Amino acid sequence: MDGRVVLITGAAGGIGRAAAERFHAQGETLVLTDLDAEGLAKVAADLGGAHAIVGDVTRVADCERIVRETVERHGRLDVLVNCAGVWVEGPTAEATEEEFDRTMAVNLKGTFFMCRYAIPHLERTEGCIVNLSSDAGLVGTAETAIYCASKGGVSLLTRSLALELAPKLVRVNAVCPNDVDTPMLAGQARDYGGGDPEGYLRALLAKYPQRERARFIRPEEVAALIAYLASPEAAPITGACIPIDFGSTAGY
Ligand SMILES: NC(=O)c1ccc[n+]([C@@H]2O[C@H](COP(=O)([O-])OP(=O)(O)OC[C@H]3O[C@@H](n4cnc5c(N)ncnc54)[C@H](O)[C@@H]3O)[C@@H](O)[C@H]2O)c1
Repeated sequence: MDGRVVLITGAAGGIGRAAAERFHAQGETLVLTDLDAEGLAKVAADLGGAHAIVGDVTRVADCERIVRETVERHGRLDVLVNCAGVWVEGPTAEATEEEFDRTMAVNLKGTFFMCRYAIPHLERTEGCIVNLSSDAGLVGTAETAIYCASKGGVSLLTRSLALELAPKLVRVNAVCPNDVDTPMLAGQARDYGGGDPEGYLRALLAKYPQRERARFIRPEEVAALIAYLASPEAAPITGACIPIDFGSTAGY
């Protein structure tokens, strides 16, 4: 895996940062991108001055530029990890056009166009893509219709691309976590907890098969799965949307 170049979107966030730390520990060359310039600069500095590109994945021109600047600087691209994402929830009868458009634009359109521009370079290196889907990209959850639609899209985008790119030996997989202890989860509890964020989080855990022993997933646990899927050991795995969810999507 010497000399691999790994491009991570949403790198200022919880899972993106953990993935960056993991690939950095493996000695790989990182390119980190996020909309949040300040957060991105901090992660890049913490990881020895990694290449950081501020960009908005909802803008197709930014997706093209992020990939182009990656390859211009490093000469290749081996791994694309699409972590940029946003959460929205609430009764569908109260949903707004802005919520729908924003969620689809970041989660689905952004993931799609990052893949679209990365593909020619990944074909050259027989590289791979790891997308962030969700438990909500595998099963329906109540009052999350927009988020589920966006992540369901990411899951099928992953499977479709895996088949399209298999002849070029480019692998495409998705990880599907439920609740991961990141700024996104804290934001959910703050924005949708009705003034009781702790109660919101307790209610999430109460649904887990582990019952009173339930806990949230740690970002580094998701990063370990991402790193495995991007490793040569995972050569037979493509088109997989792999739950990492304490069994929450295993059944009733
Ligand atoms: N935290 C969870 O419980 C959980 C569960 C399942 C799936 N996921 C998914 O994992 C991914 C990472 O989530 P996280 O928990 O690390 O969230 P996070 O909020 O900690 O990080 C998301 C990052 O995406 C960036 N971002 C948002 N919009 C962007 C845009 N338009 N362009 C570029 N960057 C943008 C944010 O600035 C942020 O740094 C997301 O796709 C999320 O939907 C998270």
